Amino acid sequence: MRRVTPKRIVILGGGGFIGSAVAERLAAQGDPLVIPTRVLARANHLALLPTADIRQANIHDDATLHALLSGADAVINLVGILHPEGRAGFDGAHVALPRAVAKACVKQGVATLIHMSALNADVNGVSEYLRSRGRGEAAVREALHGSAVRLAVLRPSVVFGRHDNFLNMLAGLVRKFLVIPLGSPGARFQPVHVEDVADVIVQCLDQPELGDSPLELGGPRIYTMRELVDFVIATLGARRLVVPLPDALAMIQALAFEFPPGKWLGAALGVALTRDNVRSMSQPNVTALPLPAALHWRPAALEPTAVEYLQGRNHRSRLQGCRERAGR
Ligand SMILES: NC(=O)c1ccc[n+]([C@@H]2O[C@H](COP(=O)([O-])OP(=O)(O)OC[C@H]3O[C@@H](n4cnc5c(N)ncnc54)[C@H](OP(=O)(O)O)[C@@H]3O)[C@@H](O)[C@H]2O)c1
Repeated sequence: MRRVTPKRIVILGGGGFIGSAVAERLAAQGDPLVIPTRVLARANHLALLPTADIRQANIHDDATLHALLSGADAVINLVGILHPEGRAGFDGAHVALPRAVAKACVKQGVATLIHMSALNADVNGVSEYLRSRGRGEAAVREALHGSAVRLAVLRPSVVFGRHDNFLNMLAGLVRKFLVIPLGSPGARFQPVHVEDVADVIVQCLDQPELGDSPLELGGPRIYTMRELVDFVIATLGARRLVVPLPDALAMIQALAFEFPPGKWLGAALGVALTRDNVRSMSQPNVTALPLPAALHWRPAALEPTAVEYLQGRNHRSRLQGCRERAGR
């Protein structure tokens, strides 16, 4: 439904998996969107959205960031990494950038900031990823302290959807290998659908008070890593031998993927795994905080959607199937 008074919204990381789902919803409402990206080609798929203004920009440059935020009603910060790039590391993406974004929101008079974090974000967390997420949340709150900017913080569990990294990565492994050595088989996740996360972001834009306390978002069921791998194997109709690895071997496996030639092999296979990821998975990726009653929250189950996209079934391929059956 179109919004009566459209909001001008800047989506940082808007070309990514969750950002694209958010951008589609907001464009459908008629909100003018500014979506900066480091590489225009990565956000090309959003060019068809009628209200999206996609710009190549270095959002780590303060002047550029201020210019992007000037006149914005809201900012959604979806920038995040699982594997540090270059010298900036996790802190560059999860702490320094969110702090700069929050400060720019204050200076530019932005009304609402939606900050994406992660479950188990904690300055004393079990991994550098989680500690940087904890420091990032603290930095944002400190920068906004005493200002009029309304903040909503989201902490989803692993997010699934047609273009997700997680289930599609598992499916890639299942397609390529007969034997799967599986680290962290007992790790627990509460997968949440990308459209449900996008829906919460849209709700928070209108009612930022919903996110006064971090919104922990998880789907209706908790799965172990082993259960998810078994689900993917069954969905693909494959027969595979899954070999659960003890913790020490899981760390050695991750170490092997961190440096060449394992790193190159991982890149070729679409797998990026580090010891820090293994440490993150040692803590259950499941929700603990209650959601506010005013939040409309009816999370979708994993199976029906994931079966569709893991089997490569979509509207077009269903039509193709009908044509083949009809001999046309
Ligand atoms: N997907 C999940 O399961 C999940 C679960 C919990 C939390 N989250 C968090 O949700 C957010 C969105 O996740 P996603 O799955 O949509 O991730 P994604 O597809 O990888 O998108 C992340 C976006 O962040 C931008 N980005 C990454 N590193 C950057 C950097 N150093 N500087 C500037 N921009 C950078 C990228 O923009 P360009 O490449 O276009 O510049 C990309 O569009 C992230 O913060 C992520 O950590 C995701």
